[in-house]
Amino acid sequence: MKTISISLANGWRFIKADDPSAGDLTMQAMSDLLDRADRGDCFGAPRFEWAQPSFDDSSWREVRVPHDWGVESPFDSDRRYGDAFLDVSGVGWYRIKLKVESGKLKVGGRGIPIPPNGRVYFECDGAMSYAMAFVNGEFAGGWPYGYTRWRIDITDHLRLRTRNQEPGTRNQELGTDVTLAIRCHNVPDSSRWYTGGGLFRECRLLVCPKDHVVPGSVFITTPDVTPERATVRVRYELSESGPKERTFTVEKPRLWDIADPYLYTVDIEGNDYRYGIRTIAFHADERRFQLNGRTVPLNGVSMHHDFGVLGAAWNRAAQKRRLLLFKEAGVNAIRSSHNPPDEGLLELCDELGLLVKDEVFDEWRKIGAAGKRKNGYTNLFDKWHERDVRAWVRTDRNHPCVIMYSVGNEICEGFANIAPVSEFAELARHLADIVADEDPTRPATNANNNPVNYSNDYPSVLPIMGCNYYPWEYSALKQAHPDVPFFGSETICMSSTRGEYHFPVSQKWKDACGECGENFYNSSYCWEAVGWEKLDGNWACSPDAQWYWMDVVKTCMGEFIWTGIDYLGGPFWCDEWRKKPAFTDPMAQERALAEASEHGMTRAAIHTCNTGFLDQAGFKKDAFWLFQSRWRPDFPMAHILPHWNWDGREGEVTPVYVFTSGDEGELFLNGRSLGRRRKEPGVWDRAYRLRWDDVRYEPGVLEVVVYKDGAEWARDRVETTGAPAKLVIEPESDTVLSDGQDIAYVNVSVRDAVGRVVPRAANRIEFVIEGPGVIIATDNGDETDFGDFRLPARKAFNGWCQALVRAKAGKSGEIRITATAPGLAPDTVVIQSR
Ligand code: GAL
Repeated sequence: MKTISISLANGWRFIKADDPSAGDLTMQAMSDLLDRADRGDCFGAPRFEWAQPSFDDSSWREVRVPHDWGVESPFDSDRRYGDAFLDVSGVGWYRIKLKVESGKLKVGGRGIPIPPNGRVYFECDGAMSYAMAFVNGEFAGGWPYGYTRWRIDITDHLRLRTRNQEPGTRNQELGTDVTLAIRCHNVPDSSRWYTGGGLFRECRLLVCPKDHVVPGSVFITTPDVTPERATVRVRYELSESGPKERTFTVEKPRLWDIADPYLYTVDIEGNDYRYGIRTIAFHADERRFQLNGRTVPLNGVSMHHDFGVLGAAWNRAAQKRRLLLFKEAGVNAIRSSHNPPDEGLLELCDELGLLVKDEVFDEWRKIGAAGKRKNGYTNLFDKWHERDVRAWVRTDRNHPCVIMYSVGNEICEGFANIAPVSEFAELARHLADIVADEDPTRPATNANNNPVNYSNDYPSVLPIMGCNYYPWEYSALKQAHPDVPFFGSETICMSSTRGEYHFPVSQKWKDACGECGENFYNSSYCWEAVGWEKLDGNWACSPDAQWYWMDVVKTCMGEFIWTGIDYLGGPFWCDEWRKKPAFTDPMAQERALAEASEHGMTRAAIHTCNTGFLDQAGFKKDAFWLFQSRWRPDFPMAHILPHWNWDGREGEVTPVYVFTSGDEGELFLNGRSLGRRRKEPGVWDRAYRLRWDDVRYEPGVLEVVVYKDGAEWARDRVETTGAPAKLVIEPESDTVLSDGQDIAYVNVSVRDAVGRVVPRAANRIEFVIEGPGVIIATDNGDETDFGDFRLPARKAFNGWCQALVRAKAGKSGEIRITATAPGLAPDTVVIQSR
């Protein structure tokens, strides 16, 4: 009864264009066709030449799926910030030929028998968007929302050429080619962030026996868990014999926990399914969120699904790398903002011990508030929301990492001028009911960003109140709804650019849309939350202010900061910059424009939102240590900022901060004590960082000795470096798999003669690769660098640069990567492909 899953990664042909017969196929028309197909009626679609088996696709490009057509395009100034100036919208077609020979499916050298009266499904984990699938030219279904898993039954097409049975002979199937064609239409102006385009998640075939487990029907729960034993209940549906249920016990269960993410496996009709045994509880009092009976503060990050220079195509290696960096910062929870994640993210979170707040929509029926898109989910809501919610929960519900379902982010229902709270309440309950129908074991929540809704009826609508920003309203919420558990579903939104520091240091947001100072960068002194000015305004705030309010109201279950890592696509406030793209300094404006035009841009801009504590390349910004100091209080650590290369600032006030898990520190400049400072609990801007505000710059060595409870705890130092002299190349791993997917991240720093990283170095670095590997992209974390992501050369940004290396599929051996830069000693590293 086993189902066989066959990955469809290779063999695709692709073109970023549309079949002329598509005419003006509107969103509405596509949604209607897909809706009807989903209900069994596949008639009425246009006849597409490009879907026909006879169509000659030899001029189309060969691509590997997952694939994102957007990130391969050149930057173009006329496109939108939100799309990272990439050509991510529009129509693209994919085609693949499946071979059937004597009753076997031939894929990638394998021959998989199709069981007698069995079924074959094509399954896609997400296609961006309005995917319409055609089998042998006939419309067969698809799905409009880009983030949902869907499948179509292609069995009948595989049997098309069965020879008529002659008396006394066995039924024989002739060899046949089956052409699968998929048209994706990523409608412009449909998302506030970079979506990626096309088949950006995995596709596969499911070859199933006659009576098979209906895909998506498995639901494993653990209704009773005690230290002695756990009850495990497995439910699923067989296609012919109907629903099945089985219950068994596990003695002395080893619990799934963030500290020990232990997974069990259960066999269901011949296939293995993983699950975890754990308990979760949400409290409105100081017990807050509890995992296995223990209070765990949610130290979470919000995250979009793109992988920076790799675009949005799902990649396990890239995802795992950033999750590990998050964990190093003390992150224990991930929010899939604002759409269903790839299931691979949940698999990784299961394995690494990360909790997940799983989110589904950024728009319901109404739009109208900041940045929402007219071509977004608002167009699909009425017809599709139930199917999307069911498909989402069914994909995700067997993952122990998932602790709650968020049915919306910053939904416009509930803004008085758009639709009243009652309208929010009605839809929210309706969505929560659908969620509970598929999975009653986790609560529904949502992410509210209207401060008025902290203390009216709104917080009692769903079992858990999610608060985006406005932490100064937490007290009002707690007072009005003492029984509602709540958390910061989105917090902080602090912009910072790795290695950039602005003087005089200001605790306010610098950039009121367009007055960008000298450049687009935000200072790494870690105060610049968007629009922020003071402890209790405007919406975003510095980490210090967020924590101040969380510490005042002790029942907040935790937070999901905006964001863990910089993400592709400028944030919505940048759209204003189109109207007023002015730097305060006209010379700076000239410089920025000149640099941008080197890459064919006619405007200076940014392609990435810099709200992460990791930059786009995953390099740590100072903010990394600010979060780590809060989230890993028992990990001895001290981090000094800024760097200490301030040629020309001699004698000028250059504040020094130390982010530390200690509580007191003494700072030394060239061996001279600059005094001791203590964290000052209750003083919001001195409680979470050590500050020496009036240090005057002189070159040399800055060192801090940090104490905790009176005992020495950690040290850090920064030194004024010499000029760039050499490159140092460091791979993050010594090996890379030759599976065509794995990635080796190779980091290069510009060093002075004695090996210190030169903090402002911007040398242009070229990579040369030998052996069975390719450089698929380069990065430096600079949001203003419009150099083609795919080129094997890039400027260092504030000392650092990165190459992403992939092994040639199936080829093992030594891959040798050399980094060179004019005037600097080069460096070489060898990694092993296996
Ligand atoms: C929030 C929103 C996010 C993002 C962020 C800043 O209000 O939920 O999606 O837009 O602002 O860019």
